[in-house]
Formats: sequence, C-alpha cells, structure tokens
Amino acid sequence: MKFFIDTADLDEIREAASWGVLSGVTTNPSLYAKTGGKLVDFDPHMVKICQICEGLPVSAESTASTTEAMVEEGRRLAALAPNIVVKLPICEASLPATHQLASEGIRVNMTLVFSAPQALLAARAGARYISPFVGRFDDIGDEGLDHLAEVVTAVKNYTYGYWDEEGGPEIITASVRTPHHVTQAALMGADIATVPFGALKKCLKHPLTDQGLASFEADWKKVTQA
Ligand code: E4P
Repeated sequence: MKFFIDTADLDEIREAASWGVLSGVTTNPSLYAKTGGKLVDFDPHMVKICQICEGLPVSAESTASTTEAMVEEGRRLAALAPNIVVKLPICEASLPATHQLASEGIRVNMTLVFSAPQALLAARAGARYISPFVGRFDDIGDEGLDHLAEVVTAVKNYTYGYWDEEGGPEIITASVRTPHHVTQAALMGADIATVPFGALKKCLKHPLTDQGLASFEADWKKVTQA
C-alpha cells in the first residue's frame, strides 16, 4: 500500500517527503484554511506542494458546484503543474465533470465517498482515484472500516476502461485517524492510505521498539564503559 500525506502544511509535506515513503499528497478546503492561506495564495500554494513532491500526485480540491464550473476549475487546476489531480466531491454535478476531465486526460480524485455504490459510480465516470472516508464513520459511532471493505471489494471486482495503464482507479483510504486504520486498509488491499502527519508519526512508533532501543542503549553503555 502506498502512503499519501493528508495535509496542506508545507513543513509537514517536506518532512514526510524527506522520509522517502511518500507517494502523493491530498488537500481539501479545510486543510488549506488551516494553513491560514487566502484565496489569492491558493494556486501558488498548490504549485509549491507540487514542486516539493515533484512527479507525485497532488490533489487540489475544486469548490465549484456546477458541472461546467467544475470542468473549468479542473482545467485551471490541472494546468498549474503536471502532477495536479483535481479533487471533486461525489454528486450529480461531478460525475459528468469527471467524465469530461478524464476524456481530456485530467486525473480526478473523487472525494467524500461513503458507500460502494458511490465508489462504483465514480469509477464508471472515469475517476483516477476514489477516496472512501473511514474516520468520519467512526466519529458518528459507525464502523468506517466495514464500509471501506465494501468499497474495496466492489471496485476491485471490475475494470473500467480508464487509467488501466496506470493501474487506476486506485482507492485512497481517506479520513484516516489511527495506525489500525492503516493496517486494516492494507489487509483489505486498498491501494493507498492518505494519512495526516500526526497519524503517520504514530505509524512509526511501537512501545516495544522504544523499550528495545532503551535496553540496547543501556547494554551498549556497559560495553563501552568496561
Ligand atoms: C481526503 O482526501 C480528505 O482530505 C481527508 O482524508 C478528510 O479527513 P478528515 O475526516 O480527517 O477531515
């Protein structure tokens, strides 16, 4: 499974990229707002992310609400850098927009996906990536991972005639909160997990690793002091 980072924070992206584990970046309007950025800075900010992650897919989300406006904004975003992926929320307006953008060779990440039928529609419309959300189900007392399992199985049952040569459509496990989400997504065969930096750091840690390291250090001290 590939790791994307789910943030618009440039320092976090730089640091995660330096780990050598990053395969892409996803952003959304809330994550951009969190950086303190304003509308006028949005395009240059996306370009900066694309430069930090040269060649890796960077999702920039459209805030348009009609098909025509989504296509127009999608084209504008895609022109910012070759690695931009246009993120669109699943809805009636975004299916034809995705179909149009895909026919122009523009990659779409269909977001706010919460069910297998939504994911199948996104795939049929030509989405390059499909982002089922996990954590937001957990937030309302539901089992996000059960819904993710349905999406993965349903989507992987078929081919769609778009993005085949790139191995698409790929499923991005989104709204990830914990290492457990990451483990289960990988066991299900989800292609990607997009993980906030805090949760990515948690994936690196294990109490037995810390304990093992402490005892190696203590024992090595005995060796060097002898
Ligand atoms: C997906 O691409 C979204 O940006 C993201 O995963 C949403 O996560 P949240 O539920 O933590 O806001």
